[in-house]
Amino acid sequence: MAIDAMKKAYVPYSGYRVGAALQDEAGHITCGCNIENASYTPTICAERTAFFKAVSSRQEEKLPHFVRIAVAGGKGGVIGGAFPPCGVCRQVMSEFCDDQFEILVVQSADPLRYDTYTLPQLLPLRFSPEYLEK
Ligand code: THU
Repeated sequence: MAIDAMKKAYVPYSGYRVGAALQDEAGHITCGCNIENASYTPTICAERTAFFKAVSSRQEEKLPHFVRIAVAGGKGGVIGGAFPPCGVCRQVMSEFCDDQFEILVVQSADPLRYDTYTLPQLLPLRFSPEYLEK
């Protein structure tokens, strides 16, 4: 689904299409793509699109328990290797996910190959909401 979400990317400036598929513990999957902007900095990554869609469309006050996200990307929509999440997206994951959350970084589509990481692996000593409760 992350690979399929690449098709929805709006990338007139970089040409890099990125797709993400975010799964919660109920099995529900929310997809996202990167959406660029002529002013460049307002650009949002595929991962954050997926998180913000999932949070903003949740049915309950309680946040979903997210279990994993898959990410795929490449120039012109061709996956030529890993397209790992940027630092800002890792910080957004820190807000909504626990240490068991998995990040699946797609390496190739056919055959499907991906590497799996945990959030602490990708963002050690992450700043999470708990620090504001001390
Ligand atoms: N991009 C993502 O969508 N996710 C990432 O984590 C890395 C970068 C997008 C942003 C921009 O539209 C394009 O990839 C090139 O940086």
